[in-house]
Amino acid sequence: MFRAKFLALIVILSMILAACTPAATPTAAPTEKPKAEPTAVPAELPKKGLACAPKCEYKDLVVGFLQTGSEGGWRAANTASFKETAEQLGLTLKFYDSQNDLAKEVAGFQQFIQDPQVNVIVLSALETTGWEQVLKDAAAAGKIVVIQDRRIDAPDTLFETYIGADFVEEGRKSADEICALLKNSAKKNVWELVGNVGSSAAKDRGQGFREKMADCGITITNSQTANWSITEGKQVTEAWLKESKDVQAIFAQNDEMGLGAIEALKEAGLKPGVDVYVLSVDATAGAFKAMLAGTLNVTVECNPLLAPQVYEAALKAANGETLPKWVASQEGVFRATDPNLKQIADGRKY
Ligand code: AHR
Repeated sequence: MFRAKFLALIVILSMILAACTPAATPTAAPTEKPKAEPTAVPAELPKKGLACAPKCEYKDLVVGFLQTGSEGGWRAANTASFKETAEQLGLTLKFYDSQNDLAKEVAGFQQFIQDPQVNVIVLSALETTGWEQVLKDAAAAGKIVVIQDRRIDAPDTLFETYIGADFVEEGRKSADEICALLKNSAKKNVWELVGNVGSSAAKDRGQGFREKMADCGITITNSQTANWSITEGKQVTEAWLKESKDVQAIFAQNDEMGLGAIEALKEAGLKPGVDVYVLSVDATAGAFKAMLAGTLNVTVECNPLLAPQVYEAALKAANGETLPKWVASQEGVFRATDPNLKQIADGRKY
């Protein structure tokens, strides 16, 4: 009995002692990490598509279209495709002509971002760079962005899709065609007329051409921009001809510059298409006319009739669909030697 009371006393005393001793600060790091605050769940996840999704129709689309300018036959056909198709489909098109001025094009983009009616922005970019900020602003404003004709150097998360040609492949085809034309020529000096230097069309066609030109020993002895224009194509070629006539072929990155070069060759007393081979890119009506006249040897097609595909993509994006990041157009090559050339030319839209 006495022993039990004594033990109880000891227990009570040690409890009192423990209560009076300050708690020791743990020195070892806790084995468990402190629990993080639960991450805030956004009230609304970023929405794909427009408010009308998934039942948007073409009539719900108000498209702000930023065109580069009106530099030639290709561009005219591209613009007409957008205007005509908009009417056929019943969507609203707001057209902006950037007049081949990058600052104007960026200002136009900002204008469409601010425009509460515009829900889709279509960009045909004058140059590959400088688009990231406006694309972010467009995303923040909930606009759908589709890139057409010219690719851009920006993360593809910032736009829905790019619909346009494989310009590198057009350059490769051009080199193959010039190789075929120069098959029996000992010399293979080629002059290159370049489009506006910052554009994807100019950069990529030049790259593709260089990838393939070594296959047959082509040397580019002159290369300069002529800004897609007949007048500049003629002036640049004239200046080169004053220095030397040692040229076997001209690679013009579009038909207009090729037509300008043809004029310069004629004025210098040379026979374009015979004394000097001429190849251009686009396959416009002007190029077919020159091929039928025997002054242009080849035109590599670049399809400008992109509006039906662009509008369809915009509608799908409006309805919340995820699109492939690039839809490349199907394109051919036309040669002056084709026995059906007249018939082909008559059946073309541009
Ligand atoms: O981006 C397409 C190019 O732009 C065409 O080849 C040229 O003619 C146009 O201006």
